[in-house]
Amino acid sequence: MKLITFEGIEGVGKSTQINLILEWLKTKGFSTKLLREPGSTDFGEKIRELLLSKESNISAHTELLLMFAARSEMISEHLINSTCDFILCDRYYHASIAYQGYGRKLSLDLIDQLIKGINCPTPDLTIIYDLDVKTGFKRKANDVIDRIESSGIDFFENVRNGYKELANARAEVEILDASQPVELISQQTKNLVERLF
Ligand code: TMP
Repeated sequence: MKLITFEGIEGVGKSTQINLILEWLKTKGFSTKLLREPGSTDFGEKIRELLLSKESNISAHTELLLMFAARSEMISEHLINSTCDFILCDRYYHASIAYQGYGRKLSLDLIDQLIKGINCPTPDLTIIYDLDVKTGFKRKANDVIDRIESSGIDFFENVRNGYKELANARAEVEILDASQPVELISQQTKNLVERLF
């Protein structure tokens, strides 16, 4: 099983790219599974609702721990012993590093300990779609904004920087320019995924 995870701030076009790559892998005859975080299990989807609800007045640590509670369920239900050729996951622990670490300013060391402590499998490839924060928000201007999306421009600038630092520091983390045309980004995504064949 190869695990590919997709990351980026709001409005980068991540879902479009994931769906294109999913269809492409299927036409090549690979068995695939699409997951999202937080979510992908019955319990994880309940946690997702709580996390995104504007009625949830929670601390940054609670937010972090709930992300990892949902992640732990997803790992045991879908990742351990999977027989799929490819699992694609819309966000994974790099989002906790970027959003809760760089965005909320929680300890990166604590997040690292959680990643190791619950035995998160390391992805074979992580693709970060990078885009100017204001452009991302303009693209989402007509959407209903959830609790985390309401965190403000400065927060998302920090999240974006966190993603860039991750891409610089880790060999399996790649970054693509999300301001390019969709087809070009999709081709670049395929080129990265093809390395895993
Ligand atoms: P989305 O996947 O639909 O964009 O919604 C998930 C939101 O949760 C998004 O704003 C990013 C955020 N998030 C975190 O803050 N930390 C995490 O670890 C994950 C997986 C998501």
